[in-house]
Amino acid sequence: MAKFYVTTPIYYVNDVPHIGHSYTTTTADALARWHRLVGDEVMFLTGTDEHGLKVQRSAEENGLTPQQQADNTSKRFSQTWTALSIEPDQFIRTTEPRHHEAVGKLLSKIKENGYIEKGSYAGNYCVGCEAYYTDADLVEGNCPIHERPVEWLEEDNYFFKLSAFEDRLREWINSGAIRPAGKASEALGIVELGLDDVSITRTSIDWGVQVPWDEDHVFYVWYDALINYVTAIGYGQDSPEFADWWANSHHLIGKDILRFHCVYWPAMLMAAGLEPPKHVDVHGFLLLGGKKLSKSGLTQIHPEDLIGEFGIDGFRYHFLRDVSFGPDSDFSYEQMVERYNTDLANTLGNLLSRVITVVGKKCNGVAPGSQADSPLAELAEKTVNIAAEAWNSTAPSVALDATWHLIRETNAYLGESEPWKMEEGSAEVSAVLGTALEVLRLAAILASPALVNTAPQIWQAIGLEGSPTDNVLDLDYKWGQYQGGAQLTAIEPLFPRIKPQA
Ligand code: ME8
Ligand code: MG
Repeated sequence: MAKFYVTTPIYYVNDVPHIGHSYTTTTADALARWHRLVGDEVMFLTGTDEHGLKVQRSAEENGLTPQQQADNTSKRFSQTWTALSIEPDQFIRTTEPRHHEAVGKLLSKIKENGYIEKGSYAGNYCVGCEAYYTDADLVEGNCPIHERPVEWLEEDNYFFKLSAFEDRLREWINSGAIRPAGKASEALGIVELGLDDVSITRTSIDWGVQVPWDEDHVFYVWYDALINYVTAIGYGQDSPEFADWWANSHHLIGKDILRFHCVYWPAMLMAAGLEPPKHVDVHGFLLLGGKKLSKSGLTQIHPEDLIGEFGIDGFRYHFLRDVSFGPDSDFSYEQMVERYNTDLANTLGNLLSRVITVVGKKCNGVAPGSQADSPLAELAEKTVNIAAEAWNSTAPSVALDATWHLIRETNAYLGESEPWKMEEGSAEVSAVLGTALEVLRLAAILASPALVNTAPQIWQAIGLEGSPTDNVLDLDYKWGQYQGGAQLTAIEPLFPRIKPQA
């Protein structure tokens, strides 16, 4: 069985989850579900990044200890994921002892291999990013991400010899590990500018993972955080499965943290004698009126604010279908309503209720089975191929678009053949409805990574036992697996139309 290991960034606990965080995590959840559907063994990891100055300061502002701040906010993240039917196999917290242990081991290994040295450092530091910037990186003296002033920090610390990895990084980037291609070019651009060694420890704060060989230092938060990806699969624990999971690793990240995941992290792995990640998939920002969510002041669109109106599946479907993975994308409530009404209420919901109604009128409520030949057979086969290819290249919007194209064509086919005008119990009416039911069966399977709650309801509404994810989807799909024979009864609409709020 092939393994598929998918991760999200671990989120800072200074702030509560917003729809930017949920975009990445929903995508990872859907990918995990797709891979389970095709029979892969899946590990889906998310979690929280709990150390660093940013967390320490927000704890102080809230009158909490950093640990209390971390406990409260980490819980908020995991509650939000539950509210969105996001089901990670592991939720890691960087304050866990297993993580401290793995960090100590991995960084000691890098030191043993000769890639960590002592030195002193001074530079422009952005607390928002927990990162140093060169003068050239700054935009009018401000952090290029947060557009806020940086601070001048000076300290004695340990350096990672990043400069030793330029050639190997170039080779790895050119191998196609970073997707989409535009983001690989961006990473290559960073390497081409020349890499300086980087400071990886701090003496000025103590909220972090202690450096095993020097008790005055803690690791700078990023160099502890990145290591979570190997902590979770048992790095340093002599775990027999570690190598297999790691060889199939897929990191999903936003473009704000590309430098850390596409340059520093692979170099750290190389320095520790491990392989770089198999894939890093980088998406753009969700914007609100053209501004990155986290600085628009309106960060504060929380997933919980939207699921009351759109439902869990309506929420998931919108972000997976409307935000193409890669470019920046403006969030729009109106577009969310439009997408829900068009694709879920009018297209999928309508196909389902129409078919059940006509089966009731023309077939005594007994579902006809699908037949070997159908005008939609070829399109259905093609749809499975497109969807598989798209999920494998982390393009959920393409996979769902293809699936909905098939559903729309099926609605059009019903409109043209008008089974409601055909003779009751005729071969003709059975053929048309059998086709529509086979499409509904297939659509429930193909949509299941997005519509985690409603896909099983569609499955049951067309008289099938269990759920669309009970069997492994054969990618060499053959038309005509809907057997028929079940008694179908009308159900409440799965996707009641939404009237946009004024
Ligand atoms: O960077 N649009 O955590 P973080 C799309 N702890 N995605 C967004 C977004 C937006 N407007 N805002 C946030 C950190 N995200 C580190 C990561 S990993 C070892 C350590 C998503 O809480 C996106 O995935 O700032 C982005 O990369 C991530 O949240 C940053 O989360
Ligand atoms: Mg951030």
